Amino acid sequence: MSRTVYVNGDYLPEADAKVSVFDRGFLMADGVYEVTSVLGGKLIDFPGHAARLRRSLKELDLTSPVSEDALLDIHRELVRRNGVVEGMVYLQITRGAADRDFVFPDPATTTPTIVLFTQAKNLIDTVAARRGIAVISIDDIRWGRRDIKTVQLLYPSMGKMMAKAAGADDAWMVEDGVVTEGTSNNAYIVKDGKIVTRNLGNEILHGITRGAVLQFAREAQMEVEERPFTLEEAKAADEAFVTSASTFVTPVVSIDGVALGDGTPGPVARRLREIYIDESQKAAL
Ligand code: PDD
Repeated sequence: MSRTVYVNGDYLPEADAKVSVFDRGFLMADGVYEVTSVLGGKLIDFPGHAARLRRSLKELDLTSPVSEDALLDIHRELVRRNGVVEGMVYLQITRGAADRDFVFPDPATTTPTIVLFTQAKNLIDTVAARRGIAVISIDDIRWGRRDIKTVQLLYPSMGKMMAKAAGADDAWMVEDGVVTEGTSNNAYIVKDGKIVTRNLGNEILHGITRGAVLQFAREAQMEVEERPFTLEEAKAADEAFVTSASTFVTPVVSIDGVALGDGTPGPVARRLREIYIDESQKAAL
């Protein structure tokens, strides 16, 4: 079945959804994106994703071609038209189509491009959640503004391929001896009941799921420490997990072939996954 895709004000069959070859998103990765999950046909953490989008746009001197209210309407309309019950909505805004030049085009004459599409996917009942995932470590050689959610995803994509080639599920990136984050998720370890995750800064994406999960953990009286942790510390942890809009809380059961705990999903990750899915569904829009 053909999906309906939103492109610059129009809802189109996916075969007709097109942008210019001169689009700066295509030529220069000059664009930002968001991924919002859908559960029970409703959007999870939408205000958080909208706020981060606003911040990403501002950091790159980009202006959204639509208001935030309109953005929510478009998300909902696409979910409705495509009958998505479980899955995600992908949104991308680029600086638009202009003659190729490293200098940004004049915003008075170049309109940003906006595209949204949906992807149906099982998010709750997954093998990864049941069994946990294996990660490998790789050098973090990305640029210095990882807090901006840009479409420069080549290295994270290569990281996933390196993990796959090594027989693992994903990769954790390491810089100056400490773990920054996963290829497309935030990284956590648990030691003696305490949850440790990298503090916010330019080095990692400020995950919307991360913010919610840490809040739920604190409300459940779990101890949380936001600081860098080393790979050695991670391999000696009792358990580990990752968070993102598409994986919620997913247990990590081994790092570079070293099993954590007894090599099965740990109790903290399992509990946080349950709480996150319950609570975020209650607040879904
Ligand atoms: N990725 N860190 C990185 C590098 C990410 O790409 C993501 C999200 C996260 C988690 O952010 P959030 O909790 O807001 O989803 C952390 C999305 C899901 C993706 O690219 O598909």
